[in-house]
Amino acid sequence: MRISDPKMMAAIAGLGVEHKPGVSLAPKTSLEIGGTSDILIIRKHESLPELIRMLKQADVPHRFLGGGSNVLLPDGELPWVILQLARQDPEVRFEGNNVFVDCAADLGRTVTTCAKHDLGGMEGLIGVPGSIGGALRMNAGAYGTQIGTYVREVQVYRAGTGRIEILRGAEINFEYRHTSFALDDIMLSVRLELPSKPYSEILQGIRICNEKRRASQPLNQKSAGCIFKNPPGGSAGRMIDELGLKGHSVGDARVSDRHANFFINAGHASAADMLALIADVRERVRDHYGVELEEEVIVWKAR
Ligand code: EPU
Repeated sequence: MRISDPKMMAAIAGLGVEHKPGVSLAPKTSLEIGGTSDILIIRKHESLPELIRMLKQADVPHRFLGGGSNVLLPDGELPWVILQLARQDPEVRFEGNNVFVDCAADLGRTVTTCAKHDLGGMEGLIGVPGSIGGALRMNAGAYGTQIGTYVREVQVYRAGTGRIEILRGAEINFEYRHTSFALDDIMLSVRLELPSKPYSEILQGIRICNEKRRASQPLNQKSAGCIFKNPPGGSAGRMIDELGLKGHSVGDARVSDRHANFFINAGHASAADMLALIADVRERVRDHYGVELEEEVIVWKAR
């Protein structure tokens, strides 16, 4: 989606929002799939309510893109203008066991920055790619840790009210790869409360998680992590593996040889290839196990 109305362009600039026209979005996602669109970079959180009010008034469809590590974007010209938060400086601020983090910050970097301040708890999240905002939205989790456990407050643009609000951790439902945030809420910053732990101990935990991950997941390939959620009491990866589907592909979209619930872009896969692979694997699992797998990755569907 292109913004070409000079009045709108001037108003956007007036809000201190940077307008980048016709950006290729594939490099902004870990799958490296996706077409092009205009991007609006938000430097000051306070400009968000007015920006979105303006876009709505002018009927300009828009979507917010976080770290791009758990999303499958469509091919071609996207039917939305893309909003993204600029990184803030500093990204992380400490007050005792409380850590204030900007939602554009990288999750892994945040875990290690906290470790250097002898604050632990999030070791299991070390290899999860993406931003703090994305981790909050999905309640990112690995190796028995989930970020929701440590959330005390979230500053969020609420689509329902059109305002920036502060939610207390207890007001938010954090479930398995699901939260009570609305789809078009935008996470801005968070206060985490982390347990004190010596740096050396945290580092040891980080090393162990890194080793486990390296042994079981295709880390150096283009993926969005696990494609499907695990069904209650089951394992999507094990089921897909048992069906002999490792290496199965549609175009350059391929089921990883290392972990069957990771679908990789082995070259120049399109969104159409990836969606066809997802549909094919889902159907085979349904036919064989009678289980309907639900996507874990967020699929942006252009209608
Ligand atoms: N398995 C296979 N074949 C495979 C993959 C897995 O037989 O190709 C078996 C494993 O041997 C194991 C079981 O399936 O017995 C579970 O596998 P694993 O321990 O790798 O965990 P997972 O349930 O597949 C979940 C999360 C991961 C997270 C890991 C580690 C989901 C959908 N996946 O994977 O998260 O990193 O646990 O905690 O919940 C993600 O969210 O994108 C993600 C990758």
